[in-house]
Amino acid sequence: MNQGFKKVKGFRDIWGKDIPYWNLIEHKIFKLLKNYNYEEVKLPVLEKIEVFKKGLGDSSDIVEKEMFSFIDKDGCRLALRPEGTASVVRFFIENNLYNENKIHKFYYYGPMFRREKPQKGRFRQFFQAGVEAIGSRSPLLDAEVIKLISDFFEQFSNMINYNIEINSVGCLDCRKVYINELNKYLETRKFHLCENCINKIKLNPLRVFDCKNDRCKEILKNAPNIMDYYCPSCKMHFDDLLQNLELYNVSYKINPRLVRGLDYYTNTAFEVISDFAGAPIAIGAGGRYDGLIKNMGGPDIAGIGFAIGIDRLVDLLKECGMYTEKEFLVFVIYQRSEFIKHAVELAQNLRQGGIPTSIDYDMVSIKSQFKMANKLNVDYAVVIGEDELNFEYYTLKNMTSGEQVKIEKNNLLSYLKRNMEGKIVNIVR
Ligand code: HAM
Repeated sequence: MNQGFKKVKGFRDIWGKDIPYWNLIEHKIFKLLKNYNYEEVKLPVLEKIEVFKKGLGDSSDIVEKEMFSFIDKDGCRLALRPEGTASVVRFFIENNLYNENKIHKFYYYGPMFRREKPQKGRFRQFFQAGVEAIGSRSPLLDAEVIKLISDFFEQFSNMINYNIEINSVGCLDCRKVYINELNKYLETRKFHLCENCINKIKLNPLRVFDCKNDRCKEILKNAPNIMDYYCPSCKMHFDDLLQNLELYNVSYKINPRLVRGLDYYTNTAFEVISDFAGAPIAIGAGGRYDGLIKNMGGPDIAGIGFAIGIDRLVDLLKECGMYTEKEFLVFVIYQRSEFIKHAVELAQNLRQGGIPTSIDYDMVSIKSQFKMANKLNVDYAVVIGEDELNFEYYTLKNMTSGEQVKIEKNNLLSYLKRNMEGKIVNIVR
């Protein structure tokens, strides 16, 4: 029985057969972000807790219940980042980047931490690829950001189904009027709502639209519609955005009930919704946050962004059995232990020539080395025996067909390279 340590609840080791999916997604997102001229920023995973309290809002579920936070030895309250937007804004203000008069486009990639109840598609450590475009209120920028997330998922559209849902949550002014009306509606129906929704009326009534309870959903069907409460400027911004999306040829669905779980959103909000074992799940989401930078101590500068949930996308791709080619691998086998020096030299030459190569240092018999080669599912085994050392050739075994050929030493690298190029399909970083 294994008596060793176990990993922390909700945290995962990602390895083996899952890695090609991660590599494929990472390859595609980084390439696309370059195309859209986004600049990478590597942010710390730990921040002062105030960054998230101020950024995400005290009433958000994340700040209220889901942060991994602790008091450091110097008395400083710290939190593992639950998302990237507040950190980017902290970084933006701290480095006075607002003095450069331009639109800043940043992207980040890495783990986020939320102390949620672990379940399918919901982890306590999960990876996000996120973007933040700071410095413009133009709805053309909103459309470009939504086009970017649409372009990303488009690359998987033959494997997964998804919809891009869009809404405007209005500016602070028109949202205030709307929330007032919504509250009146909810108050009169309060006794039919679930306990969670009743709590939300006090804290953040918009969040009632996230409730999964059938009775609450039924009641909310006739709730006031935010679209009827936009001020003229918010209405124009939303109409312009929709027109620009046509320009970009983005397919979307308007969802007036779409509200986001973080308090910083203004106007544009969107989610990419897919289906996970019969239930809808967001695989990416974002929106505009025009008051956030000012709220966090910077100047009045607008921003918009999104984050993609990489773990969820990997799980969806795995569920549809996406084909991934295994990586090419050669194994060097030596007939007797005194040949190991030659074997190591050959393995190193192959690696330097760009051929992934493995070798085992502890195997005594040639039989056990072949066994290991099979276990590793290698493509070719190169054998070094007495003859190979004395003559100008190697024995090369194709491990799939079993075919064995003698190949001139000088031709080995180019032969393997030709075979490797024919093999690697889409896992190239
Ligand atoms: P979010 O909706 O909280 O937004 O998260 C974005 C995505 O991260 C979700 O759509 C989901 O795919 C993934 N995600 C969230 N929580 C988990 C979890 N516990 N397990 C697995 N995946 C998860 C944000 O984080 C905003 N910062 C996005 C943004 C950027 N808005 C503007 N700029």
